[in-house]
Parts: sequence; C-alpha cells; structure tokens
Amino acid sequence: MSRIVLGVSGGIAAYKACDLLRRLQGAGHEVTVVPTVAALEFIGESTWAALSGRPVHTSVFDDAHLVPHVKIGQEIDLVFVAPATADLLARAASGRADDLLTNVLLTAHCPIVFAPAMHSEMWLHAATQANVDTLRSRGAVVVRPDTGRLAGPDAGPGRLPDPAELLAVAVAVLADPSIAVRAAGQDMAGLKVVVSAGGTREHLDPVRFIGNSSSGLMGWALARAAVLRGAEVRLVAANVGLPAPPGAEVEAVSSTADLAQAMAVAAKDADVAVMAAAPADFTPASASQTKIKKSPDGGLELNLVQTTDVLSGLVAARTDARQILVGFAAETPGVGETLLELGRVKLARKGCDLLVLNEVGHNLVFGRSESQITLLTAEGATGPFTGSKDTLAHQIWDEALAQRAGR
Ligand code: CTP
Repeated sequence: MSRIVLGVSGGIAAYKACDLLRRLQGAGHEVTVVPTVAALEFIGESTWAALSGRPVHTSVFDDAHLVPHVKIGQEIDLVFVAPATADLLARAASGRADDLLTNVLLTAHCPIVFAPAMHSEMWLHAATQANVDTLRSRGAVVVRPDTGRLAGPDAGPGRLPDPAELLAVAVAVLADPSIAVRAAGQDMAGLKVVVSAGGTREHLDPVRFIGNSSSGLMGWALARAAVLRGAEVRLVAANVGLPAPPGAEVEAVSSTADLAQAMAVAAKDADVAVMAAAPADFTPASASQTKIKKSPDGGLELNLVQTTDVLSGLVAARTDARQILVGFAAETPGVGETLLELGRVKLARKGCDLLVLNEVGHNLVFGRSESQITLLTAEGATGPFTGSKDTLAHQIWDEALAQRAGR
C-alpha cells in the first residue's frame, strides 16, 4: 500500500478525478484528496471526504497545529494532480505556496505527476508550455493530454486522459520511481516508434476465423510508456478492444497480411519497431466467400498455409543501421528445453536486436496485467523482471534505447 495525495484543481475534468480516486483505492492505496478552492466549485468537499474516507482541506491554516503541508509532504509516496489547470501549472512552476496543494508540491520528497486538462488554446499557449518545461526540468512528470471533445463545443488537445490511463501511470511510477525520472527527462523525445499489438485473425469464411488470445495489453503498455517519455507513437492494432491510449496514433488491422503491410510502411521511418502482436502463423489456403455449411459426415478439413513472418520481413527491409527491431517470444518450453535456449534460437532466426522472452500457458501472460520477462540481446540475457506490463514496458524501452546508443 502506498500513500498518495490526489491534488485536484479547478477544471470541469475534476469529475473524472472521482473515478481516479476510486481506482487508486481499488489498487490498494491510501488516498488523501487535496483540492484547490476552485476545484470545490466543481466537486464539493463532502464528495471528496465521503469517497476518500479522509478529511479534506484546502488551506494550510486548517489544522495548523499539525503543520499539515509539511507532514503530508514528508509522508507520501506520490502526488498526482488531476486535473492540473493552466493556473495550477503556473503556480507550481513559479513555486508559489498560496494554498495547501501548492505547499504540498513544495514539501514533497516523492515523485509528482501532473495530468493537465484545459482548453486547447490554453494548453498550446507558450506560457503553459514553458511552465510544463520548467516542471519537467525539476523532475515532475507531466502527462500528455488527450485530444477530443472539451467542455462546450470545442475539440482539440487538452482533455484529461481516461482515469484508467492515469491509474496506469500512477502504478508504474509507484512500482519504479525511476520511471518518473525518465518521463520528466523526456528521454524518448524526437524518436518515432511503432508498436504492433493484439492478435491477428485469419478468416475461414465471412463469420469464422482462426485467432489467438492476445489481449493487446503489452502493446498498449509499450505505447503508453513511450508517449509518457516523449516519443511519437504509432500503434498497429490487430483486433484489440481497448480504448486508444492518449497521444498514440492507432491503425486497426485484422489479418497477418494486413499487419505485415501496415508494419512495413510504418517501420520505414521509425527509429524503433516493436512486434508485440501475436500474428497467426497459418492462414487458410483459400477462404470461402460464403459461410461454410455443415457436411453430412460432420467434419471439416482445413488446408492451411504459413503466413509471412512480419518481424523477419522488417529485419530484411531495414535500411537505417540505427533502427532497433524488437521481437517477443511467447514460449511453452517442453521437457528438456529451457526458455532461454528457445529464446537464443529465436533471436538468431529472427535477426532482431532485442527479444522479449516470456513463458506462456494457461493463465500466464495473456490478458493479465502482471507478467515476467527476460530481455535477450546478442550480448546476453538480463532479468527475469516481474511487474505490471506498464512497468515492464519501460524496461523494454530502456534496453531498446541502450541498443540504439551502442550503434
Ligand atoms: N511474428 C511475426 N510474424 C509471424 C509470427 C510471429 O512477426 N508470422 C513475430 C511476433 O510478433 C514476435 C516474434 O515474431 O515478435 C516471435 O513470435 P512467436 O510466435 O514466438 O514465433 P514464431 O516465429 O511464430 O515461431 P514459433 O511459433 O514456431 O516458435
């Protein structure tokens, strides 16, 4: 259990902070809500007190004998400000201390995350962007706002990301505070990355397909992590039923052939390409244009042919010697086989720079948020690492960046 301060400033997106509060509590954390006075215009003190089960203060003069700003700042593991308005970012960047929340921001020893939400004009204004740069230069994480419908008739960048996305950031930073350092440093700024996710479908007829149980969670975590660290991210998603991660551009595909085509185009100018998708290895030699009817003997013989190997295709087509290609290997070692041996053979066969190894089977990996990985390169293996897919995603990017730095 970690102790979190949920700072809420005065924007309409404050209502989404109620959901974030519930999710943080659901993940087992103790959350103290510190709203600004303006935030109470949107969601009242009783709502925060009832939802958090803890007292709610806006001023350092409430319970002054306890010196609450110093006490809170010293005892907590994370400050998460959502929504962070333009005014709150400006006050935080200039080090003001005119309410309890800004006092806590100055006394906190732990990671601080700001999730901005405001009208596009305010977000894109040079003053706000300069404040964001200042906060990042001091080690704070500033989440990229989502693009979409804002309060009133406007649309554009400035939406508070979905609370599930914000929870993923909080969980990753709590599990590994050094992630906040990488995010604050924007160590992937200027990089273009493409990530494939999900599982492909090979149609037998218009209604039936051969598929697999890949959920897309790992690819989503990789995209989310790269966005947080400043990269330009494209996700090629095969049959993933998750909302698009804010800040990433998503292209939907269905079959392995579609995926191969989309990845070949996207990888052309990408600095890093990651094949986190599970492409079907076999496809029907010919798909029926109409629904296949049951035959009198009750059986159906399938004639399958191998699909193209997307990753090997990317390796063969690589023209930029600094481009890093990352593969995954989901293995089920048999008797006398080890995960690492199978991985080494696959790394050599695929010719990629980094192979993320994990053991699969019933209840392992697919659809779960916790996972265990080993990272394999020509230099050797590191790991195993265990953690949420969001935490592991940062480790995968770290290794990809290290490989790139070595070129
Ligand atoms: N992969 C690919 N194209 C395929 C199959 C797999 O690009 N047609 C990629 C996966 O996205 C993954 C890596 O290759 O990054 C390894 O996938 P895996 O299924 O473990 O390997 P396969 O090549 O299918 O080999 P096998 O299943 O025979 O072990």
